[in-house]
Amino acid sequence: MQLRDQHSILPLIVGIGGTTNPVSTTELVLRAALRMAEARGARTRLIDGHFLARLPLYAPEVQERTPVQEELVETVRGADGLIVATPAYHAGISGLLKNGIDLLEDLRDDARPYLSNRAVGCIVTAYGWQGGGTTLISVRTTIHALRGWPTPYGIAMNVADGILRVRYRDSWEKPSLMTPGTVYRIQVTAFPTSNLFVRGHRIRVDVSSSNFPHFDVNPNTGEPEARATSLRIATNRVYLDASRPSHIILPIIPRLAR
Ligand SMILES: Cc1cc2nc3c(=O)[nH]c(=O)nc-3n(C[C@H](O)[C@H](O)[C@H](O)COP(=O)(O)O)c2cc1C
Repeated sequence: MQLRDQHSILPLIVGIGGTTNPVSTTELVLRAALRMAEARGARTRLIDGHFLARLPLYAPEVQERTPVQEELVETVRGADGLIVATPAYHAGISGLLKNGIDLLEDLRDDARPYLSNRAVGCIVTAYGWQGGGTTLISVRTTIHALRGWPTPYGIAMNVADGILRVRYRDSWEKPSLMTPGTVYRIQVTAFPTSNLFVRGHRIRVDVSSSNFPHFDVNPNTGEPEARATSLRIATNRVYLDASRPSHIILPIIPRLAR
């Protein structure tokens, strides 16, 4: 068995972006990000604005590829992760970068289609907050469409849920309906789970008066379960003031001594 060259097992991070401006700020930031990836042990390759400017306009009906197009597709195909960088142009991705990204349609039939299973860092330069924000959303959405993981990832993941049919708040044997306008103290216990929260993770609590189709529909009429003949809209209020401080209790598992 041949030992693989250590170089070839280092992850390859491909940076794509910048503009043709000789002092492109976007390219400066992209180069800095690639240097950071190198400092952490990655190999890198930069596809800069001048490279992108040599690509013909992507046309879905044209099958032939120029050497520059082939080089871009092959480089991205071999990437373990990517960083894309664009200026905000009229609050969106520059045409230069988008033309290169459109060409990634050539990766559609790969065993690892498009940018699947790869983290993609997203960089936007802009004059203003608004254009920067809308362009970043656009880049992230495009990366999602190509099945990449735009980073920072920023997803909400359901970790646990719980449910209480409130008529059973005091007892399963003696259900008692609530009186509209009256405030009740209730406790909803989430099903057991365990999650490691790392730096930067945040906890979101969703309160809803339904959990269908996981559980049956509550018709809010007070009729016996599964025998309701009509539906009513319920208006629920969660109190967060000093005398009624609704809260979530998360037990912490002590760190094991090593
Ligand atoms: C055609 C054009 C459109 C632009 N539109 C916006 C915009 O909508 N919002 C914004 O904040 N900046 C906008 N800018 C400013 C650029 O995003 C900003 O200058 C960027 O850093 C330029 O990147 P570069 O230095 O890599 O060329 C625009 C610039 C150009 C040339």
